[in-house]
Amino acid sequence: MTARTVRLRSNLARTSLIGLVAAAAALFGIELLQSDNASAQPSPKALQDAAMFASIADANQRSVALFTEAGKVLQHPRCMNCHPATRRPTQAETMHPHVPPMFAGDLGTGAPGLPCATCHRQENTATLGAGIKTVPGAPHWGLAPASMAWQGRTLGQICAQIKDPARNGGRSLAQIKSHLAEDHLVGWAWHPGDGREPAPGTQVQFGKLIDAWIATGANCPSG
Ligand code: HEC
Ligand code: HEC
Repeated sequence: MTARTVRLRSNLARTSLIGLVAAAAALFGIELLQSDNASAQPSPKALQDAAMFASIADANQRSVALFTEAGKVLQHPRCMNCHPATRRPTQAETMHPHVPPMFAGDLGTGAPGLPCATCHRQENTATLGAGIKTVPGAPHWGLAPASMAWQGRTLGQICAQIKDPARNGGRSLAQIKSHLAEDHLVGWAWHPGDGREPAPGTQVQFGKLIDAWIATGANCPSG
């Protein structure tokens, strides 16, 4: 064997070793990526801070812009699924009818014999199944009353409805603000359990948008 063949062979060996490591890394990388996708929640969608709207000089326009931003939360499926057009909840990002079919009943917490709490516990519950990772849960899980139905309505209509004590549960604007900033069912939307996208931003950011909206006259978008 000549010196030249030896060098060639060892070069070849080095190349295939590098190839092997690269292939292994690629495989490993793909695996890491897959397990990341499987376990992590999708990253929350962004929500702009109330301060971002300070440059809009006209208070009416600023108010509308603030509510429009807050609308990213209000019209997110995490909220809308509990504020449907009919007395039946919807599910998931697509807001499809609840499977199995479910009825709110007189109190919103389920028909006699099949309360929501049969499946929806006090907190999100992990399942062993591969399809549905968690059953959503929070105390007093139930559907919003019919007067608070939002699905199929424009943001302007939802805005008018939220402001109207005849339809919002007799609340003042200050009480609407504290409901949105503190209510636990509202809060659930940012902690919806594995396998569900949280509402955009944070509940604190959302509360500040609503605060600023009220402070600028609580104007509604025209659409
Ligand atoms: C038989 C069990 C069962 C009962 C009873 C039940 N649910 Fe559900 N519900 C589920 C499961 C499981 C999911 C999760 C489905 C998924 O993630 O695909 C779910 C999801 C939901 C969601 C979707 C959350 C989201 O944003 O994706 C809402 C809203 C909901 N249920 C409301 C209700 C209401 C209101 C009641 C009572 C009127 C009720 N459910 C009764 C099992 C049940
Ligand atoms: C698990 C179901 C559920 C989820 C999820 C939910 N809500 Fe509600 N919501 C209710 C119920 C029930 C009421 C009625 C409670 C009351 O009046 O005290 C209600 C009432 C309200 C009200 C009172 C006034 C009105 O005009 O509707 C507002 C505002 C509201 N929800 C906003 C939200 C927002 C924003 C989200 C998402 C970030 C949300 N909700 C998510 C069930 C839900």
